[in-house]
Amino acid sequence: SIMPDSRGLIELVNKLQNYFKSNGLGTRKIELPQIVVVGSQSSGKSSVLDGLVGFSILPRGSGTVTKCPIIVQLITTDAGKEEEGIELQDFLEDGRSQDYDEVRAKIATLMERNGGAIVDTPIIVRVYSPNVVTLTVVDLPGIKRIASYGEPSDLDKRIVSLSRKYINEKNAIILAVSPANYEICNSEGLLLAKEADPEGNRTIGVLTKLDLMDEGTDARGLLTGMSKDVQVKLGMIGVVNRSQKDIENNFTVEQQIAKEKSFLSNNYGDLIGQNGVPFLRKRLNELLVQHIYKCLPELMEKLEDMLKQCNKQLTEIPNVMTETDKLEFVIKVLHRFENEIKKEIQGSPRTPEYHH
Ligand code: GDP
Ligand code: NA
Ligand code: MG
Repeated sequence: SIMPDSRGLIELVNKLQNYFKSNGLGTRKIELPQIVVVGSQSSGKSSVLDGLVGFSILPRGSGTVTKCPIIVQLITTDAGKEEEGIELQDFLEDGRSQDYDEVRAKIATLMERNGGAIVDTPIIVRVYSPNVVTLTVVDLPGIKRIASYGEPSDLDKRIVSLSRKYINEKNAIILAVSPANYEICNSEGLLLAKEADPEGNRTIGVLTKLDLMDEGTDARGLLTGMSKDVQVKLGMIGVVNRSQKDIENNFTVEQQIAKEKSFLSNNYGDLIGQNGVPFLRKRLNELLVQHIYKCLPELMEKLEDMLKQCNKQLTEIPNVMTETDKLEFVIKVLHRFENEIKKEIQGSPRTPEYHH
């Protein structure tokens, strides 16, 4: 299931959406922010998103694996009423797939369409499940400064401007991904995030590869916010994703979370409560709930408008009725009331004396 820690949020959002539906506000929706990853190539962006959604849907690996934006739309369905599964653009005739490996392979195929070049056109994946909150996550190609043989020399500029397009969106939550085994001051993710969100109100720092740090070094300063180098207002969360070997061995997200937990308790025991993929999910939930609260005043205003309209319609009703109409109406109601009472009495076996 996707973001299993978000049950409460799913229920809250679903309740509100259902309420809108049953009150003729069907089109009114709470737009949850998109979650966008940004960072250098192979920093672990796709891996972090997989950890968030809870299953392996995004192609990962060394080198430039993510070659265009991949927009993953999570869509809540009514349990039992609609088929669960994943739909992928260009493969829609295949129907909804339940096979993540198959979907991931198809995404990889789609990315090769342009001879493996990096392109702006996104691939859209829709995940239908009763266990997801209606939310969108965006995976992006990583920033790399040196173009490979045959790639355009302005490749870095193109990837940077592509990333900006998504993170400049005011409604986006930015996951600025930096690998812990690399100088944090050179973090492309943090640099771009700072530019798009100078106040740091919608940026979460994610420090990947805690397990690959040089012996004798640790990320304690960064994770506690004590580092002089980098400060992230909403916090820097350390994670351990699957290694390339784990990926090849088909490790599941759950298995990796167990592995991460044991790594954290061995190395950052005192910080285990504020790090790891489960905590990252929790933190995102908090941000989403805050966002919903921020939307509520506007929604309340809309609902109050509707109430006013209803009241107005109510006061108009007596004016369109003639006196006769009113009488007829009252008589009908009385008859109905009488019949209801009769039925009630006759249907009750404990009151036979009323029959005569
Ligand atoms: P992206 O290019 O930023 O999307 O990075 P990927 O998610 O594709 O990961 C790049 C490579 O780094 C893959 O081989 C991953 O297995 C590996 N990787 C990512 N995060 C971690 C981590 O926390 N620990 C280890 N050991 N490897 C990781
Ligand atoms: Na990669
Ligand atoms: Mg990637």
